[in-house]
Amino acid sequence: MAPAATTPPPEHELSINDKKAFTKSVYGSPDEALVAATARFVARNPTSRSLHLEAAKSLPGGNTRSLLHNAPFPVFMQRGTGYEVISEDGHVYTDFVGELTAGLYGHANPIIHATLKSTLDNVGLNLGATTRLEAQHARLICERFGLDLIRFTNSGTEANLHALQAARRFTGKRKVIVFTGGYHGAVFSFPDQHPAPNNVDLDDWIVAEYNNIEDAQLKIEESSDVAAVLVEGMQGSGPCIVGSDEFLHAIQSSARKAGAVFILDEVMTSRLAPGGLQSIIGLEPDMTSFGKYLGGGITFGAFGGRADIMAIYDPRFSGTLAHSGTFNNNTLGMAAGYAGLSQIYTPETCMAFSSRGDVFRQRLQEATSGTKMTITGRGSLVGIHFLVDGCKVLRSVADRKDDNTLKDLFWFEMMEDGFWLTRRGSLSLILDTPRSELDRFVRSVKAFLDRHNHLVRL
Ligand SMILES: Cc1ncc(COP(=O)(O)O)c(C=O)c1O
Repeated sequence: MAPAATTPPPEHELSINDKKAFTKSVYGSPDEALVAATARFVARNPTSRSLHLEAAKSLPGGNTRSLLHNAPFPVFMQRGTGYEVISEDGHVYTDFVGELTAGLYGHANPIIHATLKSTLDNVGLNLGATTRLEAQHARLICERFGLDLIRFTNSGTEANLHALQAARRFTGKRKVIVFTGGYHGAVFSFPDQHPAPNNVDLDDWIVAEYNNIEDAQLKIEESSDVAAVLVEGMQGSGPCIVGSDEFLHAIQSSARKAGAVFILDEVMTSRLAPGGLQSIIGLEPDMTSFGKYLGGGITFGAFGGRADIMAIYDPRFSGTLAHSGTFNNNTLGMAAGYAGLSQIYTPETCMAFSSRGDVFRQRLQEATSGTKMTITGRGSLVGIHFLVDGCKVLRSVADRKDDNTLKDLFWFEMMEDGFWLTRRGSLSLILDTPRSELDRFVRSVKAFLDRHNHLVRL
């Protein structure tokens, strides 16, 4: 029997793909298309709008995490399940935000769930004491990433903070070389040649250009008082601006030459290979910082590396540094992080997942060639850019001449197609995202570029 005829949904409920012919013929400029997309967004998300207005009565701008604010108002999510998130307005999205890499295991991994439940039932929340859980997780991370010793923190920001303090104590020096476009946490951000105004230690940073060997060598080797070189192998907030192997090896050598501690920030990139990005490139950092998925989805950070540097935090000796934090060894994160790394994200799974990501990214790169849309990244991390010159190889933020209107338009229209992305254009794949959703996204991207061909082609 033929399905009963249904009344078509109101226009604002249609997917942008359903309106392809309409959008193609009507919008003469990205600005016009963006105004229309924003209007559809407002119409589709009335509950989020009221929740935002209510939240703004007690949180500045209704926000407690800057990255998640989006004009005209953020979508409020109600819950997540598997690789999807469901908004307060009832829309279901494939989650490509993946909690900025911390959500690797998705929203309902049975091993993580069982571990959290059994930890609550059999261990308890926090014991205010040393437990076997932290030692077991420490041992596994040290083995996987080739560290002598490690310590835990509450976040990646704190991990970098303590790694830097260790480097300062170890060298007796103060300054830190960082790179344009680098992000090492809430108070360690370097959007351009200057530290962001909310950074700590504003006078102690020397900012070199990312992927510029000459500039980096000069600043590391010629500056005085350099305690550390702190770098990401791929800049997550770029999004996904990849450091070249030559550049990363060059700054490692320069750091050695200058007697500075070389700290690799693998908060985002540790998922890219069983031993992290450093193992792919053959880097041997003195110290590495970690965070995100290594806590199994619970708040987490860690830093570790050479025994002689980490000894600075050994409380058995006098004159060492204190490193405190009420939740450093919280039972849930220690147990879920260990279960995730030992039972789910095994070396084999990690390698297969990164290969899937590489294929996905290459398909997107093919789909976007000849347009202002540029795809960057490694493995399961993808950066999406809209650039006025369509530059395909981004060496540093200085190469990134954003077309913000197209970028915003893409974000609104991908949401209409049921994809949850960061507005800045980063994708962190969730482990169990089915192939069919990756295919659907590639089709959506192609449809977007086709629909707006006159606006996006080079
Ligand atoms: C490379 C890098 N380092 C450090 C951090 C800070 O981690 P957290 O947000 O856990 O403080 C982040 C967070 O996104 C990051 O991407």
